[in-house]
Formats: sequence, structure tokens, C-alpha cells
Amino acid sequence: MRSAPFTLLLSAFLCAAGCSDSGDGDGGETTGTGGATGGTTSGGTTSGTPSGATTGSGETSASSGATTGSGDTTSASNGATSGSGGGATTGSGAGGEGTGGSDGTGGGASARVPAASASTLREAGEKANPPLLIGAAISGGGLGNNDYKRVAAAEHNYVTAENEMKWDALEPSAGNFSWGSADNIVNWARQNNMKVKGHTLVWHSQLPGWMSSMTGKANVEAAMRRHITQVMGHFKDRLDHWDVVNEAVQTDSDTGVGNPRMRPTVFYNQIGESYIDLAFQIAREQDPKAKLYYNDYSIDARNDKVEFVYNMVKGMVDRGVPIDGVGFQMHIGPPNNEAGGADVAANMKRFTDLGLEVLISEMDINRCGGVVTAEEQLTYYHDIVAACFKEPKCTAVTFWGINDGRSWLNGWSGALCNGQSSQSLLFNDQYGKKETYNRVMNALLGK
Ligand code: G3I
Repeated sequence: MRSAPFTLLLSAFLCAAGCSDSGDGDGGETTGTGGATGGTTSGGTTSGTPSGATTGSGETSASSGATTGSGDTTSASNGATSGSGGGATTGSGAGGEGTGGSDGTGGGASARVPAASASTLREAGEKANPPLLIGAAISGGGLGNNDYKRVAAAEHNYVTAENEMKWDALEPSAGNFSWGSADNIVNWARQNNMKVKGHTLVWHSQLPGWMSSMTGKANVEAAMRRHITQVMGHFKDRLDHWDVVNEAVQTDSDTGVGNPRMRPTVFYNQIGESYIDLAFQIAREQDPKAKLYYNDYSIDARNDKVEFVYNMVKGMVDRGVPIDGVGFQMHIGPPNNEAGGADVAANMKRFTDLGLEVLISEMDINRCGGVVTAEEQLTYYHDIVAACFKEPKCTAVTFWGINDGRSWLNGWSGALCNGQSSQSLLFNDQYGKKETYNRVMNALLGK
């Protein structure tokens, strides 16, 4: 866990003319006045936003990253930022920063050792040493289906609410919070011994109109502080992983190419780039032990966007901003980029060399439009999950959904599906395992 002293840089990045950028289809959030939850998001936004819309662990006992690491929740390890998992062959000790077994993350181990066998993805992740969290985006609608629930709980031990913990869902009107849908998911996860990552505290999309149209630095700072504090406070005893800032960077193309820059959100436009530091600082004040992540798409392989994000995150680390890791969303195929396993591994290494965890946070591989072939999809699934598995500081792989029929891609215009299934996940519509599942399992077993 990073807990370096925080030095807030209020560098004057106040928005000038460029902030009204709208050329890439996700403008609108700063001028929107209307609707509660706008139809457009990023994560691969290619279409414009309607005006007025809101644009847009493993409690697995940290089995020592190696031979002598400790594993309970009180002992500290010597593992870098995640601190858990023991810390390779030199073991644990008086590090003071580590969190011992609470997450089962990589610590200082130099390699992850696979389980000899496993009958579920979850088991493969839990038996690996150090353990790897196996996640899924879970929707409230999905939990109404018994097969969905059965597969989700059997195969995963890490949950991200697909929409229910976003700003529009939790704080639909200023200062009035609505917890019901999120509580349902969090409580179901805990009943099934699954860890939860809060998603997401500060994001331009799925932002209610009252927030996206707010003006004035002090107003926006105060609203951001209230939201982070209230939301983290509500869930404090139940979850300690958070996507603090999501998708703060954009390029001309959603594949991460062309003119990388800060996304002109209400937060950036009113506060300046320092809103990111501030969000992490507030989150750390609220929970000194939580894992705090930056999360973005099309940063999985080397491109303009990830260079920008790398420099941004490196700056945060250098300034002592309390960031613990970076989520590579890993939406592969239209509308986002493609990334091979070797690219992903090299890219992860750069971030872990900063002392950060990395996570695959929203993986799916879209087959629509014939851009990614069936064979390429299988190769990507294996090689990208293997890249994470082989990197002990890659602490989780989360798939963005359970079964193909419920994938967000099916209804997303930029995904080129035109009403067809994106065939993007590990389970078919009858909740049967696909070949994609087998390839992921192989990667988790070191094959
Ligand atoms: O809740 C309304 C419902 O009342 C209405 O009848 C219906 C009509 O379209 O829309 C419903 O809202 C939809 C919402 O999902 C819940 O189903 C929105 O239109 C739709 O835009 C929204 O899409 C979500 C998208 O984020 C929005 O940004 C996807 O489900 C969700 O998978 C996706 O997830 C994002 C991550 O949070 C961040 N990274 C990218 C990823 C994929 O875009």
C-alpha cells in the first residue's frame, strides 16, 4: 500500500480554449443541462453525445509470494505498493506498509506459481502463488437469473458493479444518495466470498446533469469531495478497492492514437489537471488502507494514449500522490485497440517498475465486424491473461460480463455489432463454457 506523503500540486492547468474540445464525440458533458444519465460514454466512444446528456483476494490468505511470506492481515510484507503476499523469497517483516493477506497480491515475488490443477477460474486464481483475483462485471439485472448467479459466483472471486456504483446511480440529485442497487450487488458478492472493487468515483460519463453542468472550481471540488467521501464512507466496511479516476485521457481515436490530451470533463474544465491528484488525496483521507486505482481503455499496448497516461501516472508517483495501481481495461476490438500478449507484458512492466500494481480491469474481445477473427480472439485471451499471470504485480483479471448475450458491446454502435452478439466473453447464452474459457484457464494454469 502506498502511503507516501501527499503533495498537492495545484499547478495552474485551468482550462483554456482547448477544453471545449468536442471533436471526438464525447463532448457535451460540460454543457449538458438535462437528463439524468446520458446515453454516451467512453470506453470506446465513437459516437457523439446528445446535448444535454451527461456524457458524455482475495481474502485468499495471501499465501506468501513465496517461501517465507506471511499471510495474515496484520503482518506487513515488503512488497512494493501492494505490499501483500509475502514478498518473494526474502519474506515478510517489518515493512509497515504492506497489508499482509488482505488481498493476496503479489508483493515482491518475481514470478507467480500456478496451481497444479483447478476446476474453476476462481480456484486457479486462488491457488496460484501469489493469488490472482478473477473478476467479472456484475449487473443488477444479471443477478435476477439463477444461471448467471451460479456461474458468476463459481468462477469469480472479484466483482465490479457494471453500472450500479457510478455517479448517476449513487447520487442522482445533489447530496441525495441512493444505495439500494449497489448494496444488492455488494451484499451478494460478500455472501459468495467475493471481493468488490468500487467503480467508479470520478468519471465524465454516467454523470447526472446537475453535476456535469456545474461551474466554478470551488463548487466542483466540493461536489467531488462530498461524492467520494459519502460513497467510500457508505461502503467502507465492505470494500477497499476503488477505481478513483476513470478515463481522464483521450485521443483522436478510441484506439489510443492521435493527439493525446486530458479529457475536457467538468472536473478538468473547472479544476484543472490537479483534480486527479485531489481525487486520490480525498480517497486516501477517507480510507488510509484502500487500494486506489486509475483506470482507462486502450492503454494496454504501446500507443499515444498510454505514453500520455504513463507520464501522467509517473508524475503522480513522483509527487507522492496516493495511487496504488493502474487498471488496463482491455476492451479488445472495435471500438478500441488490439493488443498482443507481448505488448501487454512490456507495457505492464513499465507501470510495475514505478512501484504500482496493474490490473486487467474490464476484459472482453469483440468479434463484431470481423476485425478480430475467432483464432485471434483465442490467442489474445490466452496470451493477455498469461501476461498478467506471469507478472506478480498484476493482481486481478476482470472480465466485462459473464455471458455473450449480456455484453455491453452488443448494443454499442461503435462496436459494429448491428444487433448481433459480440461473442466477446467466456460463456455462451446458455452459460456454457466457450473455447475462450479454456484458453483463459490454460493461461491461469501456466500452460
Ligand atoms: O438504466 C437505463 C434504463 O433506464 C434505460 O431504459 C436504458 C435505455 O437505453 O438505458 C439504461 O441505461 C444504460 C446503462 O448502461 C444501464 O444498462 C445506458 O443507456 C447505457 O449507456 C449504459 O451502458 C454502460 C456504459 O458503461 C455507459 O458508459 C454499459 O452497460 C457498461 O458496460 C459500460 O461500462 C464501461 C465502464 O464503466 C468503463 N469502461 C468502459 C465500459 C464500457 O463502455
